[in-house]
Amino acid sequence: MSEHDHAAANAAESTSEKLVELAKRRGYFFQSAGAYGGVGGFYTFGPQGAALKGNVEDAWRDRFAVAEGNMEIDAPTIMPEPVFEASGHLDGFDDMLVECPDCGESHRADHVVEDNTDYEDAESLPIPEVEEVIAEYELVCPACGAGLAGQAVDSFNLMFATNIGPGDSDPGYMRPETAQGIFVEFPRLKEYARNQLPFGVTQIGRAYRNEISPRRSIIRTREFTQAELEYFIDPEEDEPDLESVEDVEVTLYPASEQHSDDGEEIRTTIGAAVDDGTIASPWVAYFLGVAKPWYEAVGVDMDRFRFRQHLPGERAHYAADCWDAESEIDGNWIEMAGFAYRSDYDLSKHAEHSGDRFTIFKQYDEPKTVERATVDPDMSYLGPEFGGDAQAVVGELEALAERDRSAFDGDTVEIELEGERHEIPVEKTGFAVEEQTEAGEHIIPHVIEPSFGVDRLVYTVLHHAYREDEVAGEERTFLELDPEVAPTFVGVFPLQNDDELEDAARDIAADLREAGLSVTYDDSGNIGRRYRRQDEVGTPFCVTVDYESIEQDEGGVTVRERDSTNQKRLAIDELPETLSAIRAGDLAFDDLEE
Ligand code: GAP
Repeated sequence: MSEHDHAAANAAESTSEKLVELAKRRGYFFQSAGAYGGVGGFYTFGPQGAALKGNVEDAWRDRFAVAEGNMEIDAPTIMPEPVFEASGHLDGFDDMLVECPDCGESHRADHVVEDNTDYEDAESLPIPEVEEVIAEYELVCPACGAGLAGQAVDSFNLMFATNIGPGDSDPGYMRPETAQGIFVEFPRLKEYARNQLPFGVTQIGRAYRNEISPRRSIIRTREFTQAELEYFIDPEEDEPDLESVEDVEVTLYPASEQHSDDGEEIRTTIGAAVDDGTIASPWVAYFLGVAKPWYEAVGVDMDRFRFRQHLPGERAHYAADCWDAESEIDGNWIEMAGFAYRSDYDLSKHAEHSGDRFTIFKQYDEPKTVERATVDPDMSYLGPEFGGDAQAVVGELEALAERDRSAFDGDTVEIELEGERHEIPVEKTGFAVEEQTEAGEHIIPHVIEPSFGVDRLVYTVLHHAYREDEVAGEERTFLELDPEVAPTFVGVFPLQNDDELEDAARDIAADLREAGLSVTYDDSGNIGRRYRRQDEVGTPFCVTVDYESIEQDEGGVTVRERDSTNQKRLAIDELPETLSAIRAGDLAFDDLEE
């Protein structure tokens, strides 16, 4: 291949392809269990990736737990089946599966449709329609090219199933979202919040989805990390601190614009978007306003970032409204987080299925006198009449009295039990309407949920930081990572392999570590190669110790900035303080005096 051909081949390679190669080579992330051939949808974060991911999680915790005054918990990743019966995941957490008749490969049917037709939201189509589209467009298997027309499209539940304990009498599931670990503990968590709304609970942890076709490295995997906040509010009383975010500028892509032929993104502010109704929920708007500057601070390029509202057919079973934070990756938008208004869906469902109290007692300003319809059934009648179902009949009568007291106007009252109708003499129900003084009422809080995918954010941060330039006539690749998230803040090198230089460099590295900085020591290869290595992992600064450093009293060391490659000579004893100030954002490299 000629030099020109090499250049053309390189130009054709996307940033994602180059990034995935760099990630593997430099220890950011790679497919797991390579020794056994690897397995789709599982990735290991190497030393650099684990550090970057940890820094992103710390930054998220600082902003969404600590700064907002929320509580953080750490729940198990396996939960029993009734939890997911209640949450709706057992019945409704499905994707559309189509299998190739020739090679047997499984594909997400909606993705096959979206990738090969003009349909943008195939996920919201009913299965028979997806089958029709596949036949009409004569869509083929992405793996082998065989026709998929006539193949059945099935619902495939994404949860990983397991058994709790020996045998199969206690089925359990790996959690598909960290959220359920928070919802099921609400009766206890509300006590920790002293029964006062609003309050928020966060969790950072693994979630598991048996994706039909995991793809694009860590963007769609089967095990990933979520950072979620469940914020519980009284929808009638609580209001967010919108003033603190009203001037935050955002790019919005509302559902109305996505529906329209010439629809486009809107540049506006959070305050204006709430005022003109673009964002219906002030609470969702508040969290979008908090999230935007946070994303910017961890290194997402704001020219490649937007909030997109879900189309009605796209929303999850629990969401009344939802906006996604999206980043642009090689010309495609990917979802990094969802900001959903989950209403009282989850707490109501868990109350219904568990029988526990998922409510908060809301005290009235003044006690109220209200009329209450009550029943006090005659059990000497119900017992012989209904046997073991007598208590269920009492429950039906209580519910009916609360719901429709006119049902007790006649001589008999009708109830339904397991599909069968029964008539009960009203005199046996002990029905009465009484005046009661009440200090408050039990309400089911509503939930606003900012749900961040950590892996997709890590991918975006790396992609948006990826740079290529030329230094001294040589091509260079570097990651312009923000110091807050960069895995290593400073690399320390002895100029050459020499015991004295190495000892001095090791001492400097130890001092910098003691100052709380993350430091790597490197004495292998020539100095140019060591700079390139640190550039590629995104280390913001390198310190080189040379003979002048050890031979002269105030010889100093060379400090090189990654992005500009500019170098300055700085005093050794001031290094920890100076570099710490730069790391904290209190000092700029350009302003340093040599
Ligand atoms: N509790 C709400 C919830 O789980 P979601 O939109 O399904 O909502 C939230 O997931 C975030 O989790 C997504 O925005 C995405 O960043 C991340 N995520 C979801 N599925 C993923 C997968 N298969 N691989 C990597 N990240 C994923």
